[in-house]
Amino acid sequence: MKILLFGMNGQVGWELQRSLAPLGELVALASGSRELCGDLTDLAGIAQTIRTVAPDVIVNAAAHTAVDKAEREPELARTLNALAPGVLAQAAQRSGAWLVHYSTDYVFDGSGDAPWRETDPTGPLNVYGQTKLEGEAAIRDSGCKHLIFRTSWVYAARGGNFAQTMLRLARERDSLSVINDQIGAPTGAELLADVTAHALRAATQRPALGGLYHLAAGGQTCWYDYARFVIDHARQAGIDIKVAPEAIQPVPSSAFPTAARRPLNSRLDTRKLQTSFDLHLPHWQDGIARMLEEVLVSGGLGVGSGKLGVGSGRNG
Ligand SMILES: NC(=O)c1ccc[n+]([C@@H]2O[C@H](COP(=O)([O-])OP(=O)(O)OC[C@H]3O[C@@H](n4cnc5c(N)ncnc54)[C@H](OP(=O)(O)O)[C@@H]3O)[C@@H](O)[C@H]2O)c1
Repeated sequence: MKILLFGMNGQVGWELQRSLAPLGELVALASGSRELCGDLTDLAGIAQTIRTVAPDVIVNAAAHTAVDKAEREPELARTLNALAPGVLAQAAQRSGAWLVHYSTDYVFDGSGDAPWRETDPTGPLNVYGQTKLEGEAAIRDSGCKHLIFRTSWVYAARGGNFAQTMLRLARERDSLSVINDQIGAPTGAELLADVTAHALRAATQRPALGGLYHLAAGGQTCWYDYARFVIDHARQAGIDIKVAPEAIQPVPSSAFPTAARRPLNSRLDTRKLQTSFDLHLPHWQDGIARMLEEVLVSGGLGVGSGKLGVGSGRNG
């Protein structure tokens, strides 16, 4: 099996390089790749790449993920999140290849408190969610064999993430305010990559498994409880934390105005995925604890880029 991966250096793309490698020959590209075009803004270029590589599977981990920035550059977001997936899908349809793609709970309006099912009506609140939804439609409408995984609150040990930002702030500040009215499940890029490899292997053997799936870690939390979990974990690990537990304050989303509105209810119902692929999705705390061990052991603590500071940056 020959696999062509776009977005190899993103959180998910990096882990996919590991999890997809045992499935076959892997050609992995970044936006700046030289020999083959991996730049999703170059629609003719990526179509040419697919003709040259002639993959059995195309995996697209690239996207415009900067949720607030997307409000200012909707055309770029649409090119990356909708037009490029459409080009990949048409190429896959022509050649009979599979397309694996990632989408988001931000396709929903965040109302209610029930976990969203794949069949629930969508209603994105921001440009990122709207363009990701258009990308899903382009893939579905192409008729290609596909797997689309909608996920939420993605983190990875590599690079900056919300947990690292919280740890840094907890060591620097006397008090912290964290949003407590957005509910979801932090989902590790490792888990996404491992489930992708498992599902891909099953789907290539049983094409009827193709389709749209919700994929997130088990359980649910809000950013405030997520931050508390991270800080408590670090304190127990002997890390010097300045902020006292009672000085971490829960606040509503309105306390941190952002360019893009975010859904309050990011819960995803993952039963379809678990049943179809006979999988168990571990609790979000398991993955976060593991990521923290890596960050603490590797000395990465405090070097978070701050990209995922409360109420800002990517978490789409
Ligand atoms: N992050 C989240 O919380 C979250 C939540 C739900 C769903 N998702 C979805 O999950 C998938 C993976 O997200 P992630 O968190 O791994 O994203 P990420 O870490 O932000 O990585 C995004 C990747 O897109 C690539 N990219 C940006 N512009 C590009 C271009 N013009 N051409 C080619 N590649 C380009 C970047 O590559 P370069 O650095 O090489 O430019 C980067 O590797 C995406 O589909 C995203 O929408 C993410």
